[in-house]
Amino acid sequence: MAAPDLPKIELHLHIEGAAPPAFIRGLAAEQGVDLSAIFTETGAYRFAGFADFLRVYEAATSVLRGPAEFARLTRAVLEQSAREGVIYTELFVSPDFCGGRDLGAWRDYLGAIDEAAQQIEAQGGPMMRVIATPIRHFGPEAARETARVAAETAGARLTGFGIGGDENAGELGDFAWAFDCAREAGLGLTAHAGEWRGPSSIRDALALGCTRIGHGVRAIEDPRLVEDLAEKEITLEICPGSNVALGVYRSLREHPVERLRAAGVPVTISTDDPPFFHTALRQEYDQLAHVFGWDEGLCLEVNETAARAAFCDAPTREALL
Ligand code: ADE
Ligand code: ZN
Repeated sequence: MAAPDLPKIELHLHIEGAAPPAFIRGLAAEQGVDLSAIFTETGAYRFAGFADFLRVYEAATSVLRGPAEFARLTRAVLEQSAREGVIYTELFVSPDFCGGRDLGAWRDYLGAIDEAAQQIEAQGGPMMRVIATPIRHFGPEAARETARVAAETAGARLTGFGIGGDENAGELGDFAWAFDCAREAGLGLTAHAGEWRGPSSIRDALALGCTRIGHGVRAIEDPRLVEDLAEKEITLEICPGSNVALGVYRSLREHPVERLRAAGVPVTISTDDPPFFHTALRQEYDQLAHVFGWDEGLCLEVNETAARAAFCDAPTREALL
């Protein structure tokens, strides 16, 4: 079997960022909202750089207005994951975009997402878990509210907590209360770090108790940190296509994923926001095979790493291994 055809585990996929442009355009048309400025003539998302990406992302999200829209989106995203050979996926979902962090509203959104995921699972599609996601540039107080609603709804579907958004906004330590609250509720912890800031940002995420790091690629700038990550078995959710599309690295050849793996750091492969970055999970593995010679055995190893780091219970993990 070619590596891109193997069963895959994806740990880092934003539900809003996985929305196909046609899906968002369709909702905008239904709601009479003019979102033409965020699309190119050929219908792709239009942005220039990370700050603009976040702006376009939030504009697209504005038409995801209720639980029904999120249920439709969940089905569309999981059907796409199934086509990529994904058997287990974790979706970052932001209560900020699901009723503004109100517990009652969030229960309705999460319930709709859960029901859609159950339908897909019943059809033989991927298993899915939710990572509740505060948005860093919305600030620590919003993150507290997100942690509170996540703690109240932690369970079989919602199993993780992980901050996204602008890594340059504030300091990760400002979010300690939110991470403590999530950990006490039994949620697995991850944080976007080492994407836009260097090694110290990853150390800050470790200080919050994260066992996984979203991206984390700039650990490569500090050999001691690379050793620490390997020794403590901190798993990196690496999204090479995202990093190249957003300009963290100029090309996959310059990307540190293979150097991190060779140094013993647990690395996993994901797509982040695939339609924004014109990528897909098979394509990521195809390119890793092409540029770094990743063969089937290595891809199996990476997926075993992902299974071990997944925010799921032991029986689910056993089924994946
Ligand atoms: N939210 C969606 N994609 C993101 C990224 N690459 N970095 C930070 N936050 C994000
Ligand atoms: Zn991300």
